[in-house]
Amino acid sequence: MLTIAKQNIRTVRQEDIEEISLLEQASFNDPYPSYFLSELARDNPETFLVLTLNNEIVGYGVVDHWEDHNHLISIAVRPDSRKKGLGEALLMELEKRLSKERPLRLEVRQSNLAAIHLYSKRGFKKTGLAEGYYGDGENAITMEKRFVKEALVES
Ligand SMILES: CC(C)(COP(=O)(O)OP(=O)(O)OC[C@H]1O[C@@H](n2cnc3c(N)ncnc32)[C@H](O)[C@@H]1OP(=O)(O)O)[C@@H](O)C(=O)NCCC(=O)NCCS
Repeated sequence: MLTIAKQNIRTVRQEDIEEISLLEQASFNDPYPSYFLSELARDNPETFLVLTLNNEIVGYGVVDHWEDHNHLISIAVRPDSRKKGLGEALLMELEKRLSKERPLRLEVRQSNLAAIHLYSKRGFKKTGLAEGYYGDGENAITMEKRFVKEALVES
């Protein structure tokens, strides 16, 4: 695994969006449009992170704050930079920035074993299956990570 200097992970800037959009297109069959990435960046200035190597953006991840939990909207590493620990480094840095009182939830394609392994390694548990969740009809697995243990309630 590469050792990632902390300064290689930073919060997003609006001028990054074009580069992130290219990374998004290289990573997903159904990429988010750049206007949506731009809105996410505006709304989540502390939890939209980019990972740079040699001044190029090779990874990004974004957590949005929903009513009762935080939601991992997307995480991706450029195809030529995968399997070097960068996705995990991004996810760990995102987690550090979140309130530990709220669970972190996500959806992932049932066929996306790389991502499912990453989330499992980071302590996410499967919570359900959303049938036909994606535009092409594929199911989503829903996953959740809790950071604080439920308080024991005495009866
Ligand atoms: C998922 C993704 C972000 C992982 O990024 P990455 O930098 O390659 O992952 P890492 O090198 O940090 O790997 C961390 C862990 O993830 C798992 N993993 C990563 N790639 C894997 C693969 N191809 N097969 C199986 N497990 C894999 C492993 O558990 C790995 O830990 P290990 O190396 O100790 O075994 C990357 O594959 C990606 O960008 N995919 C396309 C976009 C995507 O699907 N995003 C998720 C949307 S829900």
